[in-house]
Amino acid sequence: MEIFIPDSWYSFLPYFVELAYLVAIVLFILGLKRLSSPATARSGNKLASLGMLLGVIVTLLDREIISFEYILAGVVIGSLIGAAVAKKVEMTSMPELVALFNGFGGAASALVALGAWFRMASGSVLPGTDLFIMGLSVLIGAVTFTGSLIAFGKLNGMLKGNAVVFPLQNAFNQLLLLAAVFGIGWLLAQPMELAPVLLITGISLLLGILFVIRIGGADMPVVISLLNSLSGIAASFAGFVIDNNLLIVSGALVGAAGLILTNIMCKSMNRSLMSVLFARFGGSGAAASGGDNGDKSIREVQQTDVAVMTAYAKRVIVVPGYGLAVAQAQHVIREVADLLQKKGVDVRYGIHPVAGRMPGHMNVLLAEANVPYSQLYDMEEINQEFFRTDVVLVIGANDVVNPQAKNNPSSPIYGMPILNVEDAKQVVVFKRSMNPGYAGIENDLFYNENTYMYFGDAKNTLEDLVRSIKEL
Ligand code: TAP
Repeated sequence: MEIFIPDSWYSFLPYFVELAYLVAIVLFILGLKRLSSPATARSGNKLASLGMLLGVIVTLLDREIISFEYILAGVVIGSLIGAAVAKKVEMTSMPELVALFNGFGGAASALVALGAWFRMASGSVLPGTDLFIMGLSVLIGAVTFTGSLIAFGKLNGMLKGNAVVFPLQNAFNQLLLLAAVFGIGWLLAQPMELAPVLLITGISLLLGILFVIRIGGADMPVVISLLNSLSGIAASFAGFVIDNNLLIVSGALVGAAGLILTNIMCKSMNRSLMSVLFARFGGSGAAASGGDNGDKSIREVQQTDVAVMTAYAKRVIVVPGYGLAVAQAQHVIREVADLLQKKGVDVRYGIHPVAGRMPGHMNVLLAEANVPYSQLYDMEEINQEFFRTDVVLVIGANDVVNPQAKNNPSSPIYGMPILNVEDAKQVVVFKRSMNPGYAGIENDLFYNENTYMYFGDAKNTLEDLVRSIKEL
């Protein structure tokens, strides 16, 4: 199918393309800005998607890469796959999907850069700076690709979540990095040689694997956002190689946003990036450690006790965690909150930045149940409220309320800021067993005198609680 374009229009095409790119970039920036609040996040997502659609179509038209049939087929097939995946994927599996997206982004950038080299190999030589950036794009893109595949495997349980460490691993990784940099130097000296290109690609693919296997499960959120940032940086470099402004800017936006997120995640876990990347930290499934609660006992409660505690309370704070997402109990907790509010109870939600398995997991989950944003409080805000709170309902949260982070210097989570739920008069923990959370360590909170354990799947126990509150 050929579309007729008058000859005189061709002279305007470059301006039109750059203008369309500018519009796409503005849409990306507005989209990112709107993603900063749950209230505007959906529209932000739509704006950014629109920018991406515009960018893709204009690029394909500009470069006359393939015919319209392929463009259309690509858009339709891609949209169908995207829609099916978005509908099917559980919220709890989002992080692994993001890991996969990062990996594909990295692979795409590496392939774009490699494509530029192969085109060059059959034509004129690229200038040195382009070759250098091309090498970096392949290096970062390939590391991101294999690193993200490992992260994907760890998150969905295909691979063990623990850190895999062997002697002199850091030194070996540094050696590999040096070899990849050497490959780039070799490429600059002999631009038409295939060997340095293969060396950079092979070593970078290996480096990605070795770099991520040594990172333990509880540090995976930081790694995912770092890989996200790397995929953006690789894309930006690829943009320089093929001289595409849209790719340069959008890659830089992803790179910067990923770095900011990485920094936020590190701060919320009180870890430096260097210690995440180069020190060992326990992963999911690690043996329970720290805290000696051998002789201490726990107090169990039933729904009627919790109904009385909460219905006659003045202030209740709900602390959601990963278990809320697993149980899909977001709608029922909203129902509990509604019932309590009708009885005059002040109900708030305390959100820890790394509760769940991805940034903003709890916000998204509660937004799905239409919990008003005004009732959601960040860790810093809500931590001042616990001491004047009657009851805290900890729903499927564990690591983010573990006092070991404050009291036990030998604990792997020591120093991570937590929600100070134990300051409240009473704490009710909803979970199925005494099993540890993601970090694999015991929780001292469960043995406190003011803590009550309410065992069961969070959806079932909350449904029972709803019935009991209604009967009061
Ligand atoms: P976790 O510490 O993982 O604890 C979740 C708790 O939910 C578990 O103790 C589990 O106990 C309970 N649970 C699971 N299914 C349940 C169900 N159906 N009903 C009731 N309870 C259920 O969660 P958290 O407190 O949200 O902390 C998050 C952890 O994940 C942190 O260590 C964080 O570093 C890590 N992490 C976070 C992210 C991001 S970005 N948020 C990404 C990856 C990892 P039972 O098995 O006994 O029920």
